[in-house]
Amino acid sequence: MYRVLSILKDNKSFVSGEKIGIELGVSRASVWKNIKKLQNEGYNIESVTNKGYRLIEDNSLNCEEIMNTIPTKFIGKEIIFLLETDSTNTQLKKIGHNNGNEGTVVIAETMTHGRGRLGRTWIAPKFTGLWFSILLRPNILPQNASTITLLAGIATALGIEKSTNLKANIKWPNDIIINNKKVCGILTEMDCEIEKINFIILGIGLNVNIENFPEELKDIATSLFLESGSSICRNTILTNILIEFEKLYTEFVENNNGFSHFCELYESKCINIGNKIRVFGKEIFDGTGIKITEDGGLLVKRDDTGEEVLVVSGEVSIRNI
Ligand code: BTN
Repeated sequence: MYRVLSILKDNKSFVSGEKIGIELGVSRASVWKNIKKLQNEGYNIESVTNKGYRLIEDNSLNCEEIMNTIPTKFIGKEIIFLLETDSTNTQLKKIGHNNGNEGTVVIAETMTHGRGRLGRTWIAPKFTGLWFSILLRPNILPQNASTITLLAGIATALGIEKSTNLKANIKWPNDIIINNKKVCGILTEMDCEIEKINFIILGIGLNVNIENFPEELKDIATSLFLESGSSICRNTILTNILIEFEKLYTEFVENNNGFSHFCELYESKCINIGNKIRVFGKEIFDGTGIKITEDGGLLVKRDDTGEEVLVVSGEVSIRNI
């Protein structure tokens, strides 16, 4: 099927079924079947009698091509593409339990039960986002795992910046923010014993080419399309995020799991540092973000008592935003 796609990609105008068939050594009926499969995967292929087939707009995910060309060692070397699923995290968890390889990615064009942090729902409209999960098997202690999610935040911000002209920031712990609106969320889940991680599922949801948000989200959510004014190639962004993540993750695991090495980079992208924030934890209070600690926590100076408090979980918001 992807060989048919590759021929269509190499030709800007119509290619006849006969010509494709000859090139691949298959029948016209087989070409037609593969065209149908590609269309079902979301590829926009025009079909005109006596002319043949034409790929209209290449906004499609081409996982086969990414797997074969990505210059990583293990992240994204196996990508499972699903047109629709409940949640990529849920699907990858099954693969994790079945000895799936580290670095395996599950990606879906849409999710019916996309999950967000703190039990929230994640809306995943078809063909316009990157909704994917990465399977990790780090040889680290479970208590050090939360920092992997911060690394994913850095990698996503860098991947966005590498693929667009946008500046991406991080809202602690791992929302990606562009022009004060959320463009991406990350949900990390872990299967572990007291001293051993079996696997981690890193779920990333990035609004790429979404053109409209429902009224209730308009002021807080955005997409790369809305911020840049042009449609963005999802293959490029996905590849760049996976490349950036592998670099950081490998360094992290090789450096005895310490986050201290990454604090400076994280802080340079984190909008909470040096800014007024509101912390929603066991208690709600206002303060100023001071720094990221070596465990990936956020140190906050309280407005009311002047005390410095370490926030390790929960949510923070940028005040007045
Ligand atoms: C958040 O609440 O900000 C985290 C959202 C995480 C969404 C992603 S999309 C891919 C993966 N699969 C899911 O069901 N959720 C995560």
